[in-house]
Amino acid sequence: MMSRLAAAASRPAEISFEVDGRILSAPQGEPLATALAAAGLLQLRHSPRNGAPRGAFCFMGVCQECAIHVDGVLRQACMTPVADGMVVELRGVP
Ligand code: FES
Repeated sequence: MMSRLAAAASRPAEISFEVDGRILSAPQGEPLATALAAAGLLQLRHSPRNGAPRGAFCFMGVCQECAIHVDGVLRQACMTPVADGMVVELRGVP
């Protein structure tokens, strides 16, 4: 029998998603920016102005620095929960 504390501390199931052809895993529903950072992917795109590397900064949907293509649509990685089978493209985003 599972204790109330153990039940409250349980984590969501791990799901798999693809980033530039690489298969990663993360707890279902974790913010995509967090899952990418946990995998060591901190540079998400380049500045369209000067080509400088950019990555998630505010983690709350304000700065737009985490804009990447998710399933072919430009999305904010910090506001997008990871989902099984999700396809993420870091290459090609300015
Ligand atoms: S990290 Fe700022 S909008 Fe996503």
